Amino acid sequence: MIKINKFDESMIRKMTVLAEKYNAINLAQGFPEHTKKAIINAATRAIEEDKNQYTVTYGLKELREKLAERIRQERDVNIGYEDIIITCGASEGIIDAVLGNVPRGGNVIIFEPIYENYIPAVQLAGGNIKTIPWDNGKFDMEQLTEVVERGDFIIINTPHNPTGKVFSREELLRIADIAKKYDCIVITDETYEYLTYEKKHVSIASLEDMGGRTITVGSFSKTYSVTGWRMGYIYAKGLLMQNIKSVHDYLTICAPSPFQYAALELLDLPHQYYEGFVESYRKRRDFMAEELVKCGFEFELPQGAYYIFAKLPKFIEMNDIDFCFDLVKNGGVALVPGSSFFYKHDNKRYVRFSFSKDMDSLKEAIKRLNSYLSKKTRK
Ligand SMILES: Cc1ncc(COP(=O)(O)O)c(C=O)c1O
Repeated sequence: MIKINKFDESMIRKMTVLAEKYNAINLAQGFPEHTKKAIINAATRAIEEDKNQYTVTYGLKELREKLAERIRQERDVNIGYEDIIITCGASEGIIDAVLGNVPRGGNVIIFEPIYENYIPAVQLAGGNIKTIPWDNGKFDMEQLTEVVERGDFIIINTPHNPTGKVFSREELLRIADIAKKYDCIVITDETYEYLTYEKKHVSIASLEDMGGRTITVGSFSKTYSVTGWRMGYIYAKGLLMQNIKSVHDYLTICAPSPFQYAALELLDLPHQYYEGFVESYRKRRDFMAEELVKCGFEFELPQGAYYIFAKLPKFIEMNDIDFCFDLVKNGGVALVPGSSFFYKHDNKRYVRFSFSKDMDSLKEAIKRLNSYLSKKTRK
């Protein structure tokens, strides 16, 4: 049995189980409470029209063609439909990219804090993990130059989970320069590409000479509030994609067919949909940020995605894990302990809040959190 995670199971998913057990508001796992009716209708229509059998393993050709066109137009990445496959979420995309391409003993560099799924993927592949420590809330690009070796893989995530950081073009250019100089492959997880607030999303694959050395993972989960559909995609060129295709084929055969047909319709949604999507999250981000500051949490305002990665108030003496377990049981709010996002350089004072819930749930969560914290300060 390979040990694939320091906690043996995902802390994010574990906290969801505990949220159900204790009837807590789940600000742990990042999923919304509702999906728009038009999106639901697209899926039910596909099932009723009997689009219920396997598609070709790579995914519907029409869907890949439409996605390729969108990626060319919006991300300025020059790809064709044959460079894309449809996966069971970005989660499968990450596994396909890593298992398909990282050789046993191959180095994979990841910036801490790290979205939970990358480490298990590298461990399943038998790769060697090199992490770049977090420098007081900053991603340290200098360290990348220090640890990189010829032929390494570099995993990046923008917009970033858990910190909400959106990598700037300048930062991506630095990573790209290093990748080219040391002949590295970059795996970029762009699950939250449509959810940025103040900064624009840039795909590293669009930078000069990066298309051939980048694997990009995308998702329908967050953009359309359909995390349970398990729909994502991955694109890369040449041998990188060939290796991905064979893992995908044997792992899942294909992504769920009715949702692939539904996704075809989602790609026709007007730009107002995406603007409304960002605005609704901006309101929730601003509300949560204001309330959490009042509670005594310290954090950088997220520039993208729907998480706040916050330092525990000074008066909390418990570490992050004890705090989260106590809060879910006795305070009725589920969060994720920050430790689960660190691999080598542990950090026990952070927790992650997801603000992907409805405003009423967020208000109730803040009420509960305040009541819980007031008991701690009175002690
Ligand atoms: C950074 C990141 N990548 C990937 C995923 C998984 O997405 P999917 O539902 O498409 O598998 C998530 C889900 O929270 C995520 O935050």
